[in-house]
Amino acid sequence: MKGVILAGGTGERLMPLTKVTNKHLLPLYDEPMIYYPLRSMIAAGVKEIMIVSGKGHAGHFLELLGSGKEFGVRLSYAVQDEAGGIAQALALAEEFADGGSVSVVLGDNVFEDVFVVSDFSDGARIYLKDVPDPERFGVPTMSDGKVVAITEKPKKPASGYAVTGFYVYDNTVFDRIRKLKFSKRGELEITEVNDGYIKEGKMDVCYVKGFWSDAGTFESLFRASELVRKLKQGSD
Ligand code: DAU
Repeated sequence: MKGVILAGGTGERLMPLTKVTNKHLLPLYDEPMIYYPLRSMIAAGVKEIMIVSGKGHAGHFLELLGSGKEFGVRLSYAVQDEAGGIAQALALAEEFADGGSVSVVLGDNVFEDVFVVSDFSDGARIYLKDVPDPERFGVPTMSDGKVVAITEKPKKPASGYAVTGFYVYDNTVFDRIRKLKFSKRGELEITEVNDGYIKEGKMDVCYVKGFWSDAGTFESLFRASELVRKLKQGSD
């Protein structure tokens, strides 16, 4: 299976840290943020990976990661001209996916857990984590222990779970994205894609073990750095 790391977006919530550089190049403790989702992808057994970034800093990703040789993988790059949403960024990987399934990870997500994707056949898969602040995320509605819907950043979350930024999709994801309309916040929403798979009974739901954090706000960036530091020091 091929993999896609989404590292576009504006990093607006981290201004002025993101005024002259890209969010995913900022340090998370002792390494650039993008190393962490890249390692999650590699740990999942994915060896061909596309990195989608915004216009301003695409060259910096290339300079940092090169061909991927250092990591034992093959990297390619695509540019998202405007920050039109996670689903819009993923659409740029259609040719790269070459008719197959794709694993996707958001460039600001840090996972302790390791995911297995080799058993995936069709439909889609999401990974949930119980969090204290679900209203910041895509949130599943559960009924009899099953996910029946997902809502993006609900004011009143229907559960205590967040949809984390690791996803697996079959190739129909690209047709699904083509049918999306821009949301009120001006984005093509991955949550709408996920909700579609759920409504068709084609979503597999997994749960994340260990710590998970995004790093897109000052608080989460700081917390993710602390967690990574603890983990790395613990394993010294
Ligand atoms: O972290 C998990 C959450 O990520 C999910 O629970 C939400 O359902 C999902 O919408 C997303 O929420 P955020 O509001 O945190 O997404 P954000 O705009 O911070 O984007 C997350 C990453 O996605 C970002 O680091 C890079 C990539 N991205 C984002 C946008 C808007 C792109 O590549 N292109 C984009 O246009």
